[in-house]
Amino acid sequence: MTLKELTLRSFRNYDETVFNFSDKINVLYGNNGLGKTNILEAIYMLGNGISFRTRLDREIIKNGNDNYFIRGIFREDNLSYDTTIEINYQKKPKKVFKKVFMDKKEISSRKDLIGKILYIVFLPNDTDLVTGEPKLRRDYFNMLISTISIEYLSSLIKYNKLLKMRNICLIKKPSEANIYNEEIAKLSLYIAKENLKYSKILEDKMNQTYETIFKNENPYTIKYLSTIEDIENENDYIKKLENTLQEQIKMRTTYFGIHRAEYQFYYKDSLSRKFSSQGEKRMFTLIMKLASEKILSEYRNKTPILLIDDAMLELDNMRRDNILEYIKTLGQVFITVTEKEKVKNFESGKIFDIANYQL
Ligand SMILES: Nc1ncnc2c1ncn2[C@@H]1O[C@H](COP(=O)(O)OP(=O)(O)OP(=O)(O)O)[C@@H](O)[C@H]1O
Ligand SMILES: [Mg+2]
Repeated sequence: MTLKELTLRSFRNYDETVFNFSDKINVLYGNNGLGKTNILEAIYMLGNGISFRTRLDREIIKNGNDNYFIRGIFREDNLSYDTTIEINYQKKPKKVFKKVFMDKKEISSRKDLIGKILYIVFLPNDTDLVTGEPKLRRDYFNMLISTISIEYLSSLIKYNKLLKMRNICLIKKPSEANIYNEEIAKLSLYIAKENLKYSKILEDKMNQTYETIFKNENPYTIKYLSTIEDIENENDYIKKLENTLQEQIKMRTTYFGIHRAEYQFYYKDSLSRKFSSQGEKRMFTLIMKLASEKILSEYRNKTPILLIDDAMLELDNMRRDNILEYIKTLGQVFITVTEKEKVKNFESGKIFDIANYQL
């Protein structure tokens, strides 16, 4: 999938602006604050409906206006016609609406939009995936697996809903908490199994990607700790939920299950969170996302669009050049930079001097 043309109207710091992109690398170049990340944000919104920066659409409207508009014209791999996606947000006193259209037909639910266009997004704070809360890692895997499997996504939504109801019961009506056990056990075991499977798939793909780029072998290990490793089947799960009910009531929560799972990332047999350098953590997340790109391409049979925002920070020149060489072999790429020299030697793309797009 490639984005051929992007139109922005009253979006962030842009008035009416049109970009025509290369289907290979697009370098968005310019000083701080010119609007490079804003372009990536708009591209991301076309496939996700919401921003990666804010949930508040009114923040996105260019100051002094009352609506914003984004249009993207996409071309799917091997197809000979375009797909147009438009987002129109209007803020007026008493009349606020947000409408998303695909080929002029309104899309009423976000889930009908998600997955139509695949993205891999590299952001400056990506190293939080290594150093931050376990939830960030769970969310990453949930996103990856959900993009591949609808069954996984619906199981996850159902599990979270039932867990929430069960936890309310633990506080308000403990006698009813156990009515959710059977379904929770079934869903939790399934989700844990899929996470274990995909953690191995991602680990393998990361090591292959690393080898392709650096000609070095197998530095990465991913361990998935589900909190329910000791449980073999649904019956044991239900028994454990029943047997530990008093502790759960005391703790006011269902304290085990996939919602408490953790991933451990290792680089050369050391826990990355604790022992890796900044550059090694950065490299871990870059390789993780490049490996995810391969996984999505294979499982979904679609080439994701890469959005890379300042994410080569902290890498030495040799590593950055190697990664850029590799990226050239992938699909369409959007990369922001403040210094043009940092992305030299790309013949097959386009450079956008963002200063020229400011009115
Ligand atoms: N709703 C808005 N209306 C007008 N301007 C906005 C709005 N939201 C953000 N901006 C402006 O957009 C500008 C550019 O933001 P952006 O994050 O895209 O810059 P950038 O080129 O990525 O900079 P950096 O190199 O520092 O990351 C900022 O100066 C910001 O004030
Ligand atoms: Mg930026």
